[in-house]
Amino acid sequence: MPRNTSNRTPGRVLLGVAAVATSTHLLAPGFTGPQGVSSRIGRTALGARRFFIGGNWKANGSPDSVKQLVEDLNAGKLEVDATKDVEVVCAPPFVYLSQVKDSLRKDYEVAAQNMWDKAPGAWTGETPAAMLNEIGVNWVILGHSERRENCGETSEVVAAKTKFAIENGLKTMPCIGEKLEERESGKTFDVLDEQMKPIAAALSGDDWDSVVLAYEPVWAIGTGKVATPDQAEEVHAYLRKWLADNVSQKVSDSVRILYGGSVNDANSEELGQKPNIDGFLVGGASLKGDSFTTIVNSAKAAMSSA
Ligand code: PGA
Repeated sequence: MPRNTSNRTPGRVLLGVAAVATSTHLLAPGFTGPQGVSSRIGRTALGARRFFIGGNWKANGSPDSVKQLVEDLNAGKLEVDATKDVEVVCAPPFVYLSQVKDSLRKDYEVAAQNMWDKAPGAWTGETPAAMLNEIGVNWVILGHSERRENCGETSEVVAAKTKFAIENGLKTMPCIGEKLEERESGKTFDVLDEQMKPIAAALSGDDWDSVVLAYEPVWAIGTGKVATPDQAEEVHAYLRKWLADNVSQKVSDSVRILYGGSVNDANSEELGQKPNIDGFLVGGASLKGDSFTTIVNSAKAAMSSA
């Protein structure tokens, strides 16, 4: 495997975080920086870190606007093969899941934005995993920062939901990421460690085949303040090393790590060329068909940089 892990240059990469703060850097003690971590492996091969684009529609849309968005997505001209080169998954609000599932182009899949980790029953207002399965929804986003913040989902809850989802046949996008004050006080990696630990403890080896990890710095979500490619790559490389150290080398090599936070059609191509960025979880720009199509097409540049 073309992993370039030998002859590492121990060193510290001090990345400015100008968009957020100028006086902090990220590196955790002992972390040598992204240059020492895995290069991308076989991105062009089906199943092996295949580029991935998720669209998180959040709580947006009306029957008409959802219909229009689906039409725009269906008309989008792809320069990549969404059955092979890139995996595309759109996550509409629950009430539109069936509509979108039935009308969206078949080379795109559909995800829920949350899920209840119990069997169907007396759970007023909740949507158990089994119900998603039964309508052909195979993916679920879990632990988005908006749910952690507004609905009190802890990392333990997110880990339990991730395990339950996988056991019930769903593929998952657990989300992690630091807040602005955590980054500014140099705690980014500590925060990510704490968010990752319960997930790693809950999952066993094969479970990771059903995980696409989304790194979404909270300060970049919906703010227009995208992480620079180097900032994002630094964290992605850290997470990949964390997986190697705390789960396994196999999982570290194979799990896709998405970046999310103000990704748009103007910045996706550059971000996607970083070796440890395997795709995106897109919020605002996923509501515009043409922008989302351009973001999907950024997989082309990502593949050629592999
Ligand atoms: P954004 O949201 O692209 O609007 O910043 C990303 C997300 O919350 O998943």
